[in-house]
Amino acid sequence: MKAATVPGFAGSWELTEVPMVSAGPGQVVIRVRASGLCHNDVLCGDGGFGRLPVDPPVFGHEAAGEVVEVGAGVTTREVGDRVGTTWVQALCGRCDYCRTNPPLTGTAGMGCRRASLSGLTVQGGHAEYFVATAASTVLLPDGLSFELAAPVLCAGYTAWSALRAARPQPGERVAVVGIGGLGHLAVQFANACGYQTIAVTRSPDKHELISGLGADQVVADGKQLAEIGGADVILLTASSTPAGAEALQGLREGGRLVMANIDPGNSFTLPAQSQFWARRQQILGASHDGLQYLAEALELVASGRVTPMIEQFSADRVNDAVERLRDGDIRFRAVISY
Ligand SMILES: NC(=O)c1ccc[n+]([C@@H]2O[C@H](COP(=O)([O-])OP(=O)(O)OC[C@H]3O[C@@H](n4cnc5c(N)ncnc54)[C@H](OP(=O)(O)O)[C@@H]3O)[C@@H](O)[C@H]2O)c1
Ligand SMILES: [Zn+2]
Ligand SMILES: [Zn+2]
Repeated sequence: MKAATVPGFAGSWELTEVPMVSAGPGQVVIRVRASGLCHNDVLCGDGGFGRLPVDPPVFGHEAAGEVVEVGAGVTTREVGDRVGTTWVQALCGRCDYCRTNPPLTGTAGMGCRRASLSGLTVQGGHAEYFVATAASTVLLPDGLSFELAAPVLCAGYTAWSALRAARPQPGERVAVVGIGGLGHLAVQFANACGYQTIAVTRSPDKHELISGLGADQVVADGKQLAEIGGADVILLTASSTPAGAEALQGLREGGRLVMANIDPGNSFTLPAQSQFWARRQQILGASHDGLQYLAEALELVASGRVTPMIEQFSADRVNDAVERLRDGDIRFRAVISY
């Protein structure tokens, strides 16, 4: 079978032949039809998350396709099912963290010492075939294409979890900082839920597109956000943590900043004079916060109220997609067909 691999974690992706996979107990094999390219895949390919125990390294955690093989003991999935796969496949069930019996979430994926994580500890979804635990897959809504489902499986799932984590109240204003894969979906989710939505982007060339996604206002940074009255909720979906600290100046009293981003090289510094204490603000984290949220996000997309904006690439052009994502040039999620 063919898969996208990154020899030596040197950042250059290529389509190569790798051994065919098969389903172990509790697993299914999926014929991948569409696989979204997440910023984290690029970080992985550059060696940013350390070395995968699988050789050659195959990344990816936004794969959608059909079940073609079912392993022993699987009762919830059948050959022919249209499924989406997620990042956290399984927990060890035995470490100190797992003794709390957590559900399959991003929190548990990082808390468990021996979690099975697509594209991190086991082969990922940038391949023709992909093995996943049946329990970590979701059935796709009827009529939702693989291409539009794929970006929801991480980008949409995270963006929706971040909005949920902020617990926005009726009439509150939601700002989204950084309009890429996650951010363009976060803008649409907030708009679909009826919140006044402000996009914060450092890219002037995105303004028109972002307005088309349903943003009521588009500004360049936290200073401008403050000037137009601020926001009660800020979702940080930029790949830069300092952008979150800068955005704090646009957070209203009692506001929540949700850090959905990952930026391994940078720290978050509370700006001097932010009066965070007096303003009773909160900083929260969000990830893949429960498969029920993924189902909600997929339904919003299937209903047409939210539509991922994608650029499609054939498998042999995967490295072009990686380079364009690196350059900040994708509008707004690259989806690879394998
Ligand atoms: N929590 C989780 O479980 C989870 C899951 C997936 C991804 N992530 C993280 O979420 C972030 C977004 O991922 P993505 O796939 O949406 O990435 P993406 O498509 O590359 O979008 C990131 C956006 O961040 C902004 N940005 C880039 N460099 C910046 C800089 N130096 N300063 C300020 N803003 C910058 C850009 O938006 P503008 O041009 O609009 O400014 C860019 O489009 C990444 O940090 C990723 O690691 C987290
Ligand atoms: Zn991701
Ligand atoms: Zn564990």
